[in-house]
Amino acid sequence: MTKIRIAIQKSGRLNEDSLQILKDCGISIDNGKDQLKASSRNFPMEVFYLRNGDIPQYLRDGVVDIAIIGENVLIEKGDDIIVAERLGFSKCKVSLAVPKSFKYTSIQDFEGKRIATSYPNTVINYLKEKGIKADLHIINGSVEIAPNIGLADGICDIVSSGSTLFKNNLKEVEVLLKSEAVLAVSPSISEECKDILKKLQFRIQSVLRARQ
Ligand code: PRP
Ligand code: MG
Repeated sequence: MTKIRIAIQKSGRLNEDSLQILKDCGISIDNGKDQLKASSRNFPMEVFYLRNGDIPQYLRDGVVDIAIIGENVLIEKGDDIIVAERLGFSKCKVSLAVPKSFKYTSIQDFEGKRIATSYPNTVINYLKEKGIKADLHIINGSVEIAPNIGLADGICDIVSSGSTLFKNNLKEVEVLLKSEAVLAVSPSISEECKDILKKLQFRIQSVLRARQ
């Protein structure tokens, strides 16, 4: 029997909420968080636990059929991938921030400046649109430390509660995009899996309605 292959975040902020929505859909998954793959007992589904940043490529390659992923990651790495449902959790922003002491007036203030980020494509597109040239320093985590160690003048990263910015003496100055968890679909999903996806979407929609 065909099973739909779904990618969810292996560990991190999305992991728990992703498993919860599947559970609320009545889908029980046998695992094993240490296992990278798990199956459902009562729904034709296989779950793959993957790194966030890798998921767009797995969707593109058809290694998985669908995924629960932050829209921000899709925008950064996979604007060719279809969003089937917005899931209403893991809401965050991708924002530019500068040290509190910086007298910020407009995006022009970033001209010629160094920006540390894990979202280079998102930043490049935004700055291009505004006609600003800046130097990007691409780093994978703990981006907010960069201005304090003299690596950058500003940063661009995810803002959720704002506490990481606050703790690092930074202030948000531009919101590039607003994001939430979404159900994303591989461009090469099979017809059989499309039918399973329809059933899943039907359940997700009623769960989301009940949550309102
Ligand atoms: C994420 C993100 C921000 C922070 C935002 O980092 O990169 O730094 O959360 O959340 P907040 O506004 O609620 O503080 P995370 O802690 O996941 O670690 P990482 O940067 O090392 O990936
Ligand atoms: Mg961080």
